[in-house]
Amino acid sequence: MNFKEVIYSRRAVNFFDPKKQVPESLLNEIIELAAKAPSGFNLQPWSLIVLRDPEEKLRLQKHAWNQPKISEAPVTLIVLADMDGWKTGNPFLEKNFQEMVKTGAMNEGQRQWFDGARESLYGSSESRKVAFACKNTAFFAMALMLAAKSLGVDTHPMDGFDMDAVRKEFQIPDNYWIPMLIAVGYFDAAKSLVPGKWRKTADEIIVRFDK
Ligand SMILES: Cc1cc2nc3c(=O)[nH]c(=O)nc-3n(C[C@H](O)[C@H](O)[C@H](O)COP(=O)(O)O)c2cc1C
Repeated sequence: MNFKEVIYSRRAVNFFDPKKQVPESLLNEIIELAAKAPSGFNLQPWSLIVLRDPEEKLRLQKHAWNQPKISEAPVTLIVLADMDGWKTGNPFLEKNFQEMVKTGAMNEGQRQWFDGARESLYGSSESRKVAFACKNTAFFAMALMLAAKSLGVDTHPMDGFDMDAVRKEFQIPDNYWIPMLIAVGYFDAAKSLVPGKWRKTADEIIVRFDK
């Protein structure tokens, strides 16, 4: 599938074939393709909880408007966005800095500037922390849905869930926002999807406010 075919054929698939599994190796391939998504300073503040066990998926479903696709899909992902992913001491931040030093993208002398830049861009208010975590993780999530489609696997993103209840149910630490859930599997060919949805045109998307 070329890129245009992937873009046009990806749909939020409401009905999954519960009998058709997504092997772990295929899921890992999808995840690692998605991880090629860009992020600010390459901080990659995303993580996933992978649910396959039917009982665990039902534990999630009860906090997510009881949406049946959560348990019908062979895999449902809880997408996590780390609001502390920019902080000094975060293991991925430190790994990232060392990698940048190794490749010459930064040097140890720039560390103070790097710490200050992250603090002011991402840490200076609660809304900036949420924005940092969620904007980067949304790129990852989109890449994951397109990567899946390119490998013949369907997905469905969802934000119809009670974040506090999901946090409690799966003991998710407070530093994670939960931007969405993603059901992953294969469309149930016995069902039919609603027709493709309308989209804004370029003219409707491009705006100016100063004139
Ligand atoms: C962040 C996000 C959250 C969504 N939440 C839900 C949801 O909770 N339940 C649902 O049925 N669809 C949900 N959707 C699916 C959208 O309704 C769907 O993507 C949109 O109507 C466009 O349809 P398409 O993806 O098939 O092109 C969500 C989509 C996104 C991107």
